[in-house]
Amino acid sequence: MAQPSDTRYLVAPGGTLRGRLRVPGDKSISHRSIMLAAIAEGETRISGFLEGADAMATLTAFRRMGVRIEGPDAGEVRVQGVGMRGLQAPDGTLDMGNSGTSMRLLAGLLAGQSFPVTLVGDASLSKRPMRRVTEPLAQMGARIGTTEGGTAPLDLTPVARLTGLDYVMPVASAQVKSSLLLAGLYAEGETCVTEPAPTRDHTERMLTAFGYSVRRQASKVCLTGGGRLTGCRLKIPADISSAAFFLVGASIAPGSDLILEGVGINPTRVGVINILRAMGGDIELMDRRTAGGEPVADIRVRHARLRGIRIPVDQVPLAIDELPVLFIAAACAEGETILTGAEELRVKESDRIQVMADGLAKLGVCAEPLPDGMRIFGGALGSTGDADAIDAHADHRIAMSFAIAALRASGPIAIRDCANVETSFPGFVELAGAAGLSIQATRG
Ligand code: S3P
Repeated sequence: MAQPSDTRYLVAPGGTLRGRLRVPGDKSISHRSIMLAAIAEGETRISGFLEGADAMATLTAFRRMGVRIEGPDAGEVRVQGVGMRGLQAPDGTLDMGNSGTSMRLLAGLLAGQSFPVTLVGDASLSKRPMRRVTEPLAQMGARIGTTEGGTAPLDLTPVARLTGLDYVMPVASAQVKSSLLLAGLYAEGETCVTEPAPTRDHTERMLTAFGYSVRRQASKVCLTGGGRLTGCRLKIPADISSAAFFLVGASIAPGSDLILEGVGINPTRVGVINILRAMGGDIELMDRRTAGGEPVADIRVRHARLRGIRIPVDQVPLAIDELPVLFIAAACAEGETILTGAEELRVKESDRIQVMADGLAKLGVCAEPLPDGMRIFGGALGSTGDADAIDAHADHRIAMSFAIAALRASGPIAIRDCANVETSFPGFVELAGAAGLSIQATRG
């Protein structure tokens, strides 16, 4: 795998985004499709699978636990499920790379297996907090070792049994919720998770698609362990988190008119649309339909004059991965944008509050980092010298956000440490080029 520092972007200023395009498959759903297909009975056929490094880390982990998986081949994957008790011990540690979703969800799914396993990650993932899953999993009876700081590697030791838990999450996290529900499949009795605010519900929807009963009452979701999953067909929508770069790009670049095809518009993921609309964005949802238990639409976005807003706190979990690119929208908007209630941004693939504030400052934007958000004063975007590149800190969404900023910059933008764009959006440079944003990527 390429080292994160290998790739630099040099993005030409200006341009217009036009045409129709399809961004790659949803990352969250791709992870879950492999996990549930692996422990289901019978074959699962998946289409639209994201062939990025993160989802591939999950796929490879299950291959190493003895699951026969064909593909991915142009997004098609066939998984021969081994049933709830059919996973085998891997010969060595499982490498989750940069993927927090792989590590946190697998900690739950593997907590009830009869073999020991160690989960490791790259430098960024090895700094991210894991107690948010290991502590509630321990309450279910799991034995999971972490470093003293509560980070990976995670050492899972088999236990005689897991017992169901009624857990109220202190943070709104779909990864924590999903981890506990996956452990709950192997636990005695009922496992319930209450969320402080709605978070993405792909795990619940997909369990239902595999024939497993999940009950929701208001903010509480429950399942009973000991059931089984049945293989099925899954069609994965295009990832709204990847579409978000183009939603913002077309909104800020004069003359833009773009259609994004087959994008997932699950209500727990559409914060980016709600926020852009509140800023004056021109976004239309066309041909709404359902695919694989998930709502999907073609999205038309046209250039609009954006104005600064106070981002509603209830939209934060619904736009958590899109906030970096929304900062770019705010930098191009008239007036001030204020985000609060987003302290989680500090523990993503990078500290997204500080790293975005530093990059925006390089472009001459007045951006004030707050402990739990950011205050941004919209205005003109400058450019960077080649020697003074913005540092993406190996964070895919930071690299793509600043690439999009070039649409309104006064000169070229150089960005370093961009290789991890591959984790979520393989083909980003080419797709952006086809739509009208010129990025020169160099490795070295
Ligand atoms: C994800 C949940 C979110 C999100 C991440 C993917 C998931 O993380 O940021 O990119 O697939 O469940 P948190 O659960 O930490 O909020």
